[in-house]
Amino acid sequence: MCGIVAYIGHRDASPIIFKGLYRLEYRGYDSAGIALINQKNELEVHKTAGKVSKLEEITNQFDIRSHVAIGHTRWATHGEPNDRNAHPHYSKTKNMVIVHNGIIENYASIKKELESRGHVFSSDTDTEVLAHLIEDIFISENVALEEAVRLALNEVHGAYAIVVLHQSEPKKLIAARKGSPLVVGIGEGEYFFASDASPIIEYTKKVVYLNDDEIACVNDQNELIVKNIYEGKVKPAKIQELEMHLEMIEKNGFDHFMLKEIYEQPRSVYDSMRGRVDSATGSIKLGGLSEYEYALLNAKRIIIIACGTSWHAGLVAEYLIEDFARIPVEVEYASEFRYRNPVIYETDVVIAISQSGETADTLAALRLAKEKGAIVLGVCNVVGSSIPRETHAGAYTHAGPEIGVASTKAFTAQVTVLSLMAQWIGFKKGRVSKRDCANFLTELELIPQKIQETLDKTNELVKQIAYEFHDATNFLYLGRGYNFPVALEGALKLKEISYIHAEGYPAAEMKHGPIALIDANMPVVVIAPQSSSQYEKIVSNVQEVKSRKGRIISIVTEGDVEVKKLSEFTIEIPDTLESLIPLIASIPLQLLSYHIAVMRGCNVDQPRNLAKSVTVE
Ligand code: M6R
Repeated sequence: MCGIVAYIGHRDASPIIFKGLYRLEYRGYDSAGIALINQKNELEVHKTAGKVSKLEEITNQFDIRSHVAIGHTRWATHGEPNDRNAHPHYSKTKNMVIVHNGIIENYASIKKELESRGHVFSSDTDTEVLAHLIEDIFISENVALEEAVRLALNEVHGAYAIVVLHQSEPKKLIAARKGSPLVVGIGEGEYFFASDASPIIEYTKKVVYLNDDEIACVNDQNELIVKNIYEGKVKPAKIQELEMHLEMIEKNGFDHFMLKEIYEQPRSVYDSMRGRVDSATGSIKLGGLSEYEYALLNAKRIIIIACGTSWHAGLVAEYLIEDFARIPVEVEYASEFRYRNPVIYETDVVIAISQSGETADTLAALRLAKEKGAIVLGVCNVVGSSIPRETHAGAYTHAGPEIGVASTKAFTAQVTVLSLMAQWIGFKKGRVSKRDCANFLTELELIPQKIQETLDKTNELVKQIAYEFHDATNFLYLGRGYNFPVALEGALKLKEISYIHAEGYPAAEMKHGPIALIDANMPVVVIAPQSSSQYEKIVSNVQEVKSRKGRIISIVTEGDVEVKKLSEFTIEIPDTLESLIPLIASIPLQLLSYHIAVMRGCNVDQPRNLAKSVTVE
């Protein structure tokens, strides 16, 4: 995901672009750029790896006043996040620039064809190829710029939202959309283009949401003309009044980012395994780690360092790696690890897990491990953030930007990637057979669909349960084996957004203390799927709770009888392998904390005292 903002009109464009880029930064912030026609009528481009603030620092040294400009904040897909790959991208003659959100799938073949005709590319991006193609058509066909854009788009496959600016046409802005969002704001003799309405809303309430396959051009007469990309026919632009608040627009109709992100999980889990899994052949490709295969396969010990939810994903990974790869694993709070003079050997491999890639303690812990000679790998979500930059290698989770402070889709994406790593190491070490690996991958590929089913079938029931318990002052979460980290994560979700005290515990540990807390007022959430190798044992634990009159809310496999008859409320989830249950069982727990927090009137997306990215220790 990237963010696009553009302006043409009577105001100074640059401040509008910068404000817009800051608002769109949630969409990706590994590089940023701006292009404009300056006071000397030259096309001027500034771009840099890093955040919008870095771009602003750079442009502060220039006179960038302009009446037309385009800006971009990038979430890298093709090409690593560096200055070269940052948008806007030039055409061959450097007279034209483009910003793009999406993926041009057939860029490689177009690039090859253009290269054979002398085009030289300076980035690894699909976007630059499109810039060259448009200009190639503009020159060779001698058509209007907007027609050249339209004809070029007829040659590409994939998804895009683009805006194009040409030095010789400073009164024109051309935009198009297929699969990636683009909104046009219509002011008095001025137009705004953006990936969402947040950069527009303070200037005008009149907007046109471009539909897929539409191209929009602000022409020399300052009119907005919308056409169908394929037929070139003019379409009436449907002007709508923005009635929503900024935040709502950014949330795509969901009440909160957290809920949106919970519902994105079928997609984000799929994206985390996309291109990495071939269940037919039982093979796993983790390109970023291949260089360190030897170190991983020969590691005497794996140390996982992380904080918060990422630490819980690390605990799931401990079970996965020890189960499949038979390498001892230690999971450490990064904040403890960094200060306790840990024993680290050169034969250790350290894995740093972080959604943001910026968590100060995790960063410091990985630096320490590196200093002591260990190989340090990263499992991060934000492309180009500090942790992936400082680790030796890693695997991105590809969950997309997570804005809600309570981490949801990042957790399931981390577990997905870590389960692939565990299988990959296990298989390469000869601990997992090809057949077992293929079976695992087949099950993993079904997880997005099973998450969707869980969302569809459990949300209403979870809401009722939330209503029943939203005034509770304490909650206990219990799980065994793979579901112990799920219990911890469920408790963390509840406490951070609803401010209810909650504890996660290994179910068997309960009798060593917490059982004293159980009475008729204590809600106890038990994760007890049938695929658990400790199912019978957890049934006994549920009985222990029941005998003390605890109020049992259970997460069970569809069709369960044993746990159901002991529970006050039962949430059924689809069956899967024991090792993959965390990916499904965590979903109703996220929903439970969400609904309880909403019913208590809490600020779900910005819970008190918390920040999304903890960059201080
Ligand atoms: O960005 P990171 O994954 O490194 O962040 C770690 C924790 O700060 C984070 O998981 C935090 O616990 C979340 N608010 C939990 O929902």
